[in-house]
Amino acid sequence: MDIRFGADYYPEHWDEKRHETDAKLMHEIGIDVVRMAEFAWSKLELENGVFRFEWLDNVINILANYNIRVVLGTPSAAPPAWLIDEIPDLLPVDSQGRTRGFGGRHHNCHSNSAFREHIKRLVSKMAHHYKNNPNVIGWQIDNELGNSHNDLCHCKSCRRRFQKWLESKYKTIDELNREWGTSFWSQTYDRFEQIPTPMITPNSHNPSLLLDWKRFHSDLIVKFQQFQIDIIRQICPNHFITHNLMGFFNLVDYFDLTENLDFVSHDQYPMGFFDNPQPMKEPSVLAADLDLMRSLKNKTFWIMEQQAGPTGWEILGRTPKPGQLRLWSAQSVAHGADTVVYFRWRTCAFGTEEYWHGILPHSGNPGRRYYELQKFISEIKPYMEKFKDSLPESEAAILFSYEQSWAFEIQPHHPELNYIDYVRNFHRGLYNQNIPVDFISEKGDFERYKLVIAPLLFLVSDELVEKLTRYVVQGGILVLTMRSGVKDMNNKCHIESELPGKLTELTGAVITDYDCLRDQDIGIRYNGKDYRCRIWCDILKPVSAECIGTYTDDCYRDEPAITVNHVGNGRVYYIGTEPGQKLIDDFLSDIVNAAGIERIYDKPAEVEFVRRRTKDADYIFALNHTDRPQTIAIAENWKRLVNNENLEPFGYALFVADRPDSP
Ligand code: GLA
Ligand code: ZN
Repeated sequence: MDIRFGADYYPEHWDEKRHETDAKLMHEIGIDVVRMAEFAWSKLELENGVFRFEWLDNVINILANYNIRVVLGTPSAAPPAWLIDEIPDLLPVDSQGRTRGFGGRHHNCHSNSAFREHIKRLVSKMAHHYKNNPNVIGWQIDNELGNSHNDLCHCKSCRRRFQKWLESKYKTIDELNREWGTSFWSQTYDRFEQIPTPMITPNSHNPSLLLDWKRFHSDLIVKFQQFQIDIIRQICPNHFITHNLMGFFNLVDYFDLTENLDFVSHDQYPMGFFDNPQPMKEPSVLAADLDLMRSLKNKTFWIMEQQAGPTGWEILGRTPKPGQLRLWSAQSVAHGADTVVYFRWRTCAFGTEEYWHGILPHSGNPGRRYYELQKFISEIKPYMEKFKDSLPESEAAILFSYEQSWAFEIQPHHPELNYIDYVRNFHRGLYNQNIPVDFISEKGDFERYKLVIAPLLFLVSDELVEKLTRYVVQGGILVLTMRSGVKDMNNKCHIESELPGKLTELTGAVITDYDCLRDQDIGIRYNGKDYRCRIWCDILKPVSAECIGTYTDDCYRDEPAITVNHVGNGRVYYIGTEPGQKLIDDFLSDIVNAAGIERIYDKPAEVEFVRRRTKDADYIFALNHTDRPQTIAIAENWKRLVNNENLEPFGYALFVADRPDSP
């Protein structure tokens, strides 16, 4: 993959006389790629069938003079007003039956066939127009697919499509009735045409319907993207195609969405969005986002939007401190980004995002942010060439499942149980020990890892149980948790045996009772130490397993809380609660030591260590996310490439070491 730095550029917002200055300033900061046009439909197709590409051609030519290449976005996230006039039912409908109006973006239904015809015409025209332009290198489909589509779309077309989707899944209505358990509350359907989308009802919908709705919705967006991929692949076989994702956003299954892309792109905003209070994301949460992005295709990726200044729409965020933009960029590169594109080039003077700051301020004059990034790009780029395409080579993985996340959104059990946070806590347990970690889906290759953590494996299929069993029998270490094996894939409870149902052979322990800890936490003693745990408590009865942690409170005192079971050459741990960070850290540390999993840096430090591992060397990043200087003790074989062991506040350093296993 190419090593590049770039910016998201909106030439349509500026007088054309400015474009040359922009290109020159971009070149001087080290930018050699821009993304453009992903919201420019009304400039590219002035009215129905009237296309104008000259303005974009001119910009591409100016950029080319400065050796800057172009990624074009297909503008389907912003259908223009004339198109809404033409297809009024393109506007999406929410679960209360309200049509969402024109005026923002993403004001579209994804199943509307007239809309697809218009996209097909525009995208084909663009693709033909740019297929032989040597300065255009690739495409981004739409923009952040699924973003703004929460609670959408319940229009007639989507309902019909949902019914068809169900029909192709269940074949007969009797089968659907059985699999959804519609005998409950007299919900039996006679025909697929009767099935509603989950619009508001006097009370909750059937959980099986809700899960299928989320699957359907994800599939719809995947297909919407695929339909555009197909057009471009055919016309521009030499261009890459990507899409900009949003970390742990889960409306669309990102494993599915990225399957037919050349590589993943990601939008990284460490200071979060416009929520109140502003969520400055923790470094480990940022790391988890990046690890997921790399893991989707097990491949290096692009950052298509890296925060470049204060964020904000109506409410503004803090201004990044000196060093922070550089630090966050270094973190993205460290976790596997081979190209970093900053959002946006220049802060816009109008529109919803006039306070979402770019590298340049409103005035267009380079300032602190410009010079900080200029220095960073020039110092890091030569080393990126050396480790491009390389991955961390993780020995540990966490199973991340969109379907489990949806099932827990439908039934969180405890008001504070959040699947993604629960998963992130285990990620943080490895992050805190400087252990590289990948995420895998149910379809992933478990055998590549010494340790697989599969939190909250609520819905289980026979295939997954077989796969996990094979992994463990061959020597893998598997960690399972509370609420595993509870349901079948259609979101109905397992009834054939005690929990964890089909996973019982693996756990070697059954759950005899459970308690949703609504109003209290609970103590656990593990390895002679006491911890406080929350949310849930499974009471375990070991059959072949050994108890390694017990509850300490109330009627649960001395009952097993954590077990380990030897299966084949491997072992399976089970934790019957939300363990909390301290217990996760200590528990994983013991497992990691026993499994001989390597830490990149094994002394305590308030610094993140990340590696890119090439054939013969480890490129090691030390990232100081604190506002204080930090000193680290580097190993003798670490050579300093950028900066050194004395890290300034928000500073970073890059070292290289021969691989421990290289001759
Ligand atoms: C997202 C979008 C961009 C822009 C930024 C800032 O990540 O992809 O178009 O809207 O947020 O709001
Ligand atoms: Zn719709």
